Amino acid sequence: MPILYSEEFKSFYLNTPNSSYVFHVNDGNFLVHDYYGAKIPMEDMKAHSLMTGNTGFSVKSADLTTAPDITPMEYSCNGSGDFRISALQIREARGNASTDMRYVSHKIYRGKPTMKDQPATYGTEAETETLEILTRDSVTGAEATLYYTVFENYDAIARRVKITNASDKEMDLERVYSSCTEIPFGNWDIGHLYGAWARERKFERKELPRGIHSIESKRGASGHFNNPFICLLDRNTTEDVGDAYGFSLIYSGNCSIQTEANVDGDLRVIMGINPTDFGWHLNPGESFETPEAVTVYSADGLGGMSRTFHKLYRNNLCRGPWKNAKRPLLINNWEGTYFNFDEEKIYNIAKQAGELGVEMLVLDDGWFGARDHDRAGLGDWFVNEEKLKGGLGLLSDRIHALGMKFGLWFEPEMINPDSDLYRAHPDWCLRVEGRPMSIGRNQYVLDMSRKDVRDYLFDCMDNILKHAKIEYIKWDFNRNLSEAASALLPAERQNEIFHRYVLGLYELLERLLQANPDLLLEGCSGGGGRFDPAMLYYSPQYWTSDDTDAIERLDIQYGTSIVYPTSAISSHVSACPNHQTRRSVSMQTRADVALAGTFGYELDVTKMSEEDKEEMKKQIAEYHKYYDVIHFGELYRLIPPNGEECAWCYVSEDKSEALLTFVCVRCHPKTRHRVKFRGLDPNKTYQDQDGTVHSGSVWMNAGINYMPPMQDHTTFKIHLTEIK
Ligand code: DGJ
Repeated sequence: MPILYSEEFKSFYLNTPNSSYVFHVNDGNFLVHDYYGAKIPMEDMKAHSLMTGNTGFSVKSADLTTAPDITPMEYSCNGSGDFRISALQIREARGNASTDMRYVSHKIYRGKPTMKDQPATYGTEAETETLEILTRDSVTGAEATLYYTVFENYDAIARRVKITNASDKEMDLERVYSSCTEIPFGNWDIGHLYGAWARERKFERKELPRGIHSIESKRGASGHFNNPFICLLDRNTTEDVGDAYGFSLIYSGNCSIQTEANVDGDLRVIMGINPTDFGWHLNPGESFETPEAVTVYSADGLGGMSRTFHKLYRNNLCRGPWKNAKRPLLINNWEGTYFNFDEEKIYNIAKQAGELGVEMLVLDDGWFGARDHDRAGLGDWFVNEEKLKGGLGLLSDRIHALGMKFGLWFEPEMINPDSDLYRAHPDWCLRVEGRPMSIGRNQYVLDMSRKDVRDYLFDCMDNILKHAKIEYIKWDFNRNLSEAASALLPAERQNEIFHRYVLGLYELLERLLQANPDLLLEGCSGGGGRFDPAMLYYSPQYWTSDDTDAIERLDIQYGTSIVYPTSAISSHVSACPNHQTRRSVSMQTRADVALAGTFGYELDVTKMSEEDKEEMKKQIAEYHKYYDVIHFGELYRLIPPNGEECAWCYVSEDKSEALLTFVCVRCHPKTRHRVKFRGLDPNKTYQDQDGTVHSGSVWMNAGINYMPPMQDHTTFKIHLTEIK
């Protein structure tokens, strides 16, 4: 039983294969956190919850049992003596926002309850066990139910909270985080993924500052800038060894992960919806459910933490027939043609790419309405038959006749002012009456909280899917939300719009998938602007960045791999000079970097040289050869991109095969590069592609010392197979 309750200690023990999470109910019925870290036996841990903070200005609860400010609180409340960052703040009908939740009851059961209308991890009764704790504020009648699900196979805990108004008066939620985690004392570094358009998810590690530190978004989307993730690493933790705690929020909207460390290093982490621009009105009897938050503990460093996230998200978050199926090797026309195409151009790209082994043609932006540029057409989801004579049905049939699949781009949430949809329904946008609307990429944002808007989008998309054979949709989203107000919400609920937008987005995605269960969705937001776990629930792969330069991609894919599995990281070979950086690197380098993701091409294959086409055939053969080890193997990051070199390897789960990729970013006058494998079985014997044979122990400890001299931006792969 991974979840245990001790009557004697009034303590809960949540155990994963290698970690324990412990808290207890104290004499005042507060939930007090005791421990989170490497697995421990079930002992009385209450003494470990004493904080050594400065007690001088702390206050005690009226029953004198607890000073919440210097007690590790399991789910911290605002305004009742806990002066640190708090997870919950409810304004009651009398206007006061002091909140005080105490334990009422709990239950433990096998399995994981599904969430209403929101993405979440899932697991069978054999895989998961859940603890549900009811807490109540006896003054306001608000109830908070805390859910903890423990996975049998992963060192991960999924958490969320449901708030219910069990009183006969209205109340307002002002902040409701999904989790609050107290971390044991230590010297902590914080790691996070920051970026911008075309520079997404760069990993930064730095000393955790005292005071409050926030990683947040208030753009209406998780965004390019701060991915909804942090990790806490002991100062001595490396890629391979040491304590690492990962915090990941399954949410695509305004998120917030805050840490607060006091003078003695006592540390709290809260993770959930950003309270800025958030509120939720609860009438008597109504409930609110937070998004799900996932915490991972690893004693095997940053790499161990990442591998847990990879497996959990690949197997227990991604869904549908494509989750572990081999994805079609695609060619996307965006960088090949931009808006400048017709049906013959697209057909010829498909035909020539198909002859080289590509399996699907994806038609990107520009096939609908008056969409000859990015200033018009969004919202008019009707094929432009002047451009595509015979329509999508004919084009799709011709592409299928080549033995290929067909995919299509949409940007459902957006509208150009120059569109028939806007002319007919200007009120369907997010807008503040009387205030001019900000514009981004010449477009406004549709009000996804409105059912009529979602119905229109569903009908358009479903109609297209019914009239042409389409196996894949790329779902784009190219600006963030401003003047976010809905024409349909009353004034007292306008601060619900950001969250309602996200719920509306989820509903439309779900509806589309329910109606088209075999569809493969690829998420996108101006590259990887909404690359978050929630989107992976709907789209098992995500366009990682509009920056397709292989050298830039080293940083982007390295950072993305901190949390997200390779099977989610969409990566393409594009033309050179690269359209974003003007850099030219070889076809081989572009392919070797793109292989560390869902491989594909994004160029005009009809303009390629015969030599490059021959290279492309070889690359496609390698893609098939290495698919399983890359997509189902475990990732070991060997050398982070450091401006000089970068290397990683994949090892199959049974440790019978491994593939190492080494990139020389900047060469020096030296004859050899050195790198060591990780993750092999030391006692197995492996042979590389040149016939060199060593034990796993030698490949990992002595490493490789024979790579040929390399030039700037070149790559080298080593493929090991076990010899029995
Ligand atoms: C942004 C995406 O990231 C690109 O791949 C492409 O689909 C364009 N939008 C099309 O407008």
